[in-house]
Amino acid sequence: MRFRFGRHTVPAGRARLLWAFLSIMGCLAAVAFLSRYLADSCYGYALETDFVFGSPSAEAAKSSSEIIESTGKTAFGEGADMDQQEKKTEPAARLLFATDLHYLSPSLTDQGAGFQRLVEGGDGKLPERSKELLDELVSTAREIRPDALVLGGDLTYNGELQSLKEVCLALTPLLEEGIPVLVIPGNHDIAYPYACRYVGEKAYRVAAISQKEFAERCACFGPSQAISTCDASFSYMYELPEGLRLLFLDANTEKKPGRLDEETLRWADEQLEKARQDGAAVVTVTHQNVLRQSDLFYHGFVIGNETEAAELLFSHGIRTNFSGHSHIQHQAEKNGLTDYATGCMSVWPLHYSLADVFPDGTADYQVRELSGYQEEAKERFYVCTSRQVRQALMKLTIPDPIREAMIDYAVTVNGQYFAGRFSPEEIKESEGWKNWETYGKSTFWYLYIRSMI
Ligand SMILES: [Fe+2]
Repeated sequence: MRFRFGRHTVPAGRARLLWAFLSIMGCLAAVAFLSRYLADSCYGYALETDFVFGSPSAEAAKSSSEIIESTGKTAFGEGADMDQQEKKTEPAARLLFATDLHYLSPSLTDQGAGFQRLVEGGDGKLPERSKELLDELVSTAREIRPDALVLGGDLTYNGELQSLKEVCLALTPLLEEGIPVLVIPGNHDIAYPYACRYVGEKAYRVAAISQKEFAERCACFGPSQAISTCDASFSYMYELPEGLRLLFLDANTEKKPGRLDEETLRWADEQLEKARQDGAAVVTVTHQNVLRQSDLFYHGFVIGNETEAAELLFSHGIRTNFSGHSHIQHQAEKNGLTDYATGCMSVWPLHYSLADVFPDGTADYQVRELSGYQEEAKERFYVCTSRQVRQALMKLTIPDPIREAMIDYAVTVNGQYFAGRFSPEEIKESEGWKNWETYGKSTFWYLYIRSMI
């Protein structure tokens, strides 16, 4: 028997062979097309979610591992192996990280003129919405149910004991619901000299938080569940799922404010060595930054003895640190360590972050925003910035329209910087920057904007 193909006829045996060959080729082409299509989908998603911070997002990572699994099973028929591969890349723990809450007890302000002047002369914090913002963070933790809610310090506005009591009260239900809450003090929380209540035009001193008081009130938020605590500071080692460890390093003691004291450094070194022997990766948390987040403005933002602090982490191969304090959204990298500085939770755009931490100590880090009070926070931020820029420029001889344009420009750029969304190239090429180079070089604000570039 023969088969006809156009003008040619071929024997039946050869036709069957040809048919089988074409079928196999067709299947292979279909698999290749599907793989490419799925890869493109994954890449497109990653691009869409990562444009700001450049690191792969947790969702993108998850979605790509799902795709690897499905193509692994269908295209290669090696489901078991691919499952194992996926396991290796699965996060060990999900952390919800927020910092610089700067909570002010509503009982400490009558919202009078003195208080308004204080907040409008500040850096854009929204202390009159402290309770609402903290409530939203607690609800977010309830929704997400992370392996831990981690708070990176400056829990209180200016170290008022009353504010700390209320923060602890708001967080306690999460513990009862099985969500660990892990805190570290910030420089504003310990023996801060400006703990005040605000009445009318005046501010009156109120009880501040001592190191001992903070340790007692916050013992349930970390140290009481820790595998080790440091005697000299509120530093502790906490064990996360799958043996991953979280090391909190407190640089805000009464004795050595802003620095990691010798005993803390010694204790931390021992803990990190022990983790190495146990085969456990460690991720660290500090209030001040470990790495400089700006080439110009780092003094007072990084830990005082920054070389010792950074060397401690480098020498133990730490890959991830979470910090706050500088209030900007930024991340810095050095010697394999990434220091993720999350923006202040009470300054627009009201940031917090979500980090999926992997067994090797790396993290997929995503920035999120609280949804309530965005407009109010933005307005506060813009009012504060424009007032400060105007004050600086009024001392100089600048044509009025140009001065106004310079203020607008600085306010916009500062907003983008705080939100971690600015483009250095756009700043350099813009008309606004040229105005600043012509008229504003003698000001702090010129240096500040230049430091962003
Ligand atoms: Fe701070």
